[in-house]
Amino acid sequence: MLIKKPADIMPSDITDPGVYARRREFLKAAAALGIGAVASGPAGALVKAAGQGTPIPGIIETRYGDGLEPTAFEYVTGYNNFYEFGTDKGDPAEHAHTLKTRPWHIVVDGECEAPGEIGIEDVLTDFPAEERIYRLRCVEAWAMVVPWVGFPLGDLLKRFKPTSKAQYVVFETLVDEEQMPGQRRAVLDWPYREGLRMDEAMHPLAILATGLYGELLPNQNGAPLRLVVPWKYGFKSIKSIVRISFTRTIPETTWWRRAPGEYGFYANVNPQVDHPRWSQASHRVIGEGLFSSKHPTLMFNGYAEQVADLYRGMDLKKFF
Ligand code: MTE
Repeated sequence: MLIKKPADIMPSDITDPGVYARRREFLKAAAALGIGAVASGPAGALVKAAGQGTPIPGIIETRYGDGLEPTAFEYVTGYNNFYEFGTDKGDPAEHAHTLKTRPWHIVVDGECEAPGEIGIEDVLTDFPAEERIYRLRCVEAWAMVVPWVGFPLGDLLKRFKPTSKAQYVVFETLVDEEQMPGQRRAVLDWPYREGLRMDEAMHPLAILATGLYGELLPNQNGAPLRLVVPWKYGFKSIKSIVRISFTRTIPETTWWRRAPGEYGFYANVNPQVDHPRWSQASHRVIGEGLFSSKHPTLMFNGYAEQVADLYRGMDLKKFF
């Protein structure tokens, strides 16, 4: 797949996000009239394919993100953070082709009755692919709106039967300097590691994504499987996962360990708690242009109604 960096993208190249959003409207209208299955296949053929990647068959359309305008495919796949391939936003699109995503296995272990592993092909067949349009709000005060394809994280976790001792879930990215040349430099402690409290992990908004824009994930977005936690800053959404462990104690996560004064374990999007070096009260949406106005950031990235209960009684300035 040819991926261009934002600097190389001409306006004429950009996938019209409005066309994509209208495809969803078409699918819903078709469903209401009883025309065909609500899947991306036949109606998807009516509009230009987003990136000529591998289409995911039979995607279940959902109402998540109704009314949100997706960020153009070229930005979602050209402006990335994936330090295993370099620290510039264009590096992952340029270098992540060295990652081999087949075969791919995810080990699940720790405080559970049925530890084991699952191959990515089984993940793709066993867990129905849903499309959910979620905001991704990065700690660096920019954001995107992404039509993710995935399934609830909790559905996969339950299969391994976590015990009552499991208080947290820890995720790890692959370590392989050959495939991920950025790991030759100690810019971070490898493997990239992230974690969630068990109740956060079981929340229906937390998903494991296998694709975006109707296609299998491009490598730079964390193929073949990455986490998406829409009410938290983007760094929680760990990419290219090879291990998931249930633990009793709070895990040391990559950015928290690297700079504990700047990045907390919870990392909930919170306009009232600034990063020590910049405000978190507003953000730019990638693709709207450098001179576009900033948008006010909403508590929990706009998902407060669904997730605020998880943090009732907690001092979110202390547990940031
Ligand atoms: N996962 C790994 N393994 N390595 C990383 O450097 N960066 C994180 C997160 N997941 C990162 C990662 C950060 S800081 C962000 S903002 C999101 O991925 C970006 O996701 P995107 O490139 O798909 O937009």
